Amino acid sequence: MADQGIPTRPLHRSRLAFTSRPRTLRYAHIVGWGFEVPSQVLSNSDLEAIVDTDDEWITTRTGIKERRIAEPRETTTSLATRAAQKALDVADLLPSAIDLVIVATATPEYIFPSTASMVQDYLGATNAGAFDLSAACSGFVYALDMAASKIRTGEINCAVVIGAETLSRVVDWADRGTCILFGDGAGAVVLQGSDVPGGILSSVLRSDGSGWDMLTLPTVSSRDTYLQDGLHEMHRIYMDGKGVYRFATRIIGDSIKAALDQAHLTPDDLALVIPHQANQRIIEYAAKTLKIPVERVYSNIERYGNTSAASIPLALAEAAGRELLKPGDLVAFVGFGGGLSWASMVVEWSALPGRPARSLTWGRRQGEYALAWLRRPLVRLWRRIMLLSPQAIARRARERAEAARDRAQAARENLPTPALPREWPRRDDAARRGEAARREPAARQDEPPPTDNGA
Ligand code: UT7
Repeated sequence: MADQGIPTRPLHRSRLAFTSRPRTLRYAHIVGWGFEVPSQVLSNSDLEAIVDTDDEWITTRTGIKERRIAEPRETTTSLATRAAQKALDVADLLPSAIDLVIVATATPEYIFPSTASMVQDYLGATNAGAFDLSAACSGFVYALDMAASKIRTGEINCAVVIGAETLSRVVDWADRGTCILFGDGAGAVVLQGSDVPGGILSSVLRSDGSGWDMLTLPTVSSRDTYLQDGLHEMHRIYMDGKGVYRFATRIIGDSIKAALDQAHLTPDDLALVIPHQANQRIIEYAAKTLKIPVERVYSNIERYGNTSAASIPLALAEAAGRELLKPGDLVAFVGFGGGLSWASMVVEWSALPGRPARSLTWGRRQGEYALAWLRRPLVRLWRRIMLLSPQAIARRARERAEAARDRAQAARENLPTPALPREWPRRDDAARRGEAARREPAARQDEPPPTDNGA
């Protein structure tokens, strides 16, 4: 049925690459995990000096006692890289074995380059593709699903999936409704392909964009009108806390149940649920709707607050490090937040508890990190040298001459300077306007401005 309407043709050479890949679906297993948090702690009582709040309100309404705040030298990239290195240590794999790096983040250092590209470079993962994924607090589950899909088809064998945030840099420190919630950190997992059944069993990704304005972080090309109400600010988090709370409690149970259904499982089969750490009350609500003991829903919100895309991998790495998971255990992840978006996943845990002893690969891994550190300045130097090649010098001279010719031509035609980039004239419009200005300069000055209906 699925092939209906697709004409069969003789196989072209360019499609052979796909057919030579494994035909049977593989399994994507979590084989490594790690997390990194800044050492600087901001407690509830520290917050009392910043906004009108108190420890009692924050603890009873959210469950948060403290959160970590990045030092100026710490970035989303540095936290993500450190978490990934720890995950590679547990997996005992080399950076050169990684095929894909995905970073789920709402606080990248740049819109581009992606944080993932920089992490790829710092790790020395020279055989990997890299991209960032934006799905707010659901981002990690989305990213894990993307990587697992590529592993299942046999297209790649190994991926590093990271959730990393420095939310303290985009929090509105004057808004007591949000600044008490968020913290910084990163968590990472290594996913590896195998023919052994297990690993990621099912996932359900969902979105309801009609609620886009309930949780926002406006950036470079945000609508001006959105930023004019005094509530919203560029590069600052805005949240309709009550609205998002209602949304989270509405979807959390159903979303996990949908992922369980897909894997023909029930909540009773779960050894652990690792939800996005948004609010202790939401975490407890999840246990109630799933009808499982609250101890089976992992929580570390007390110590790290809400770290958005980092919260699930951070909690997972902590739980795995504490040996709360053993091979054969079933664990569910659920993320929810801005978008609105939400995502659930069921995983059969296959890794042995505890960290493996440091092997020979540890030394080679350090060697690859050192090579990456050396490679970066050398490659950049090489690029500069290439700029000095005779062809490059001739090309730059040609470009400069062309630019000077264009400027002289524009000055001759006295082209108007547009007021806004949005109104930037197209090349042919500009030429036409220049022509008209040359023909009747006096008449133009007296003309009334054109109206929308062209009158
Ligand atoms: O990560 C993405 C997903 N995010 C979430 O899932 C977050 C969901 N939302 C929440 O967790 C909760 O809505 C909050 C923790 C953000 C807020 O809790 P709430 O119980 O919904 O409080 P509220 O916003 O309704 O505020 C209740 C009262 C208000 O005072 P009045 O108007 O009743 O006099 C607030 O002004 O508490 C006041 N308030 C505070 N008081 C002391 C709000 N923030 C604070 C504060 N300290 N930090």
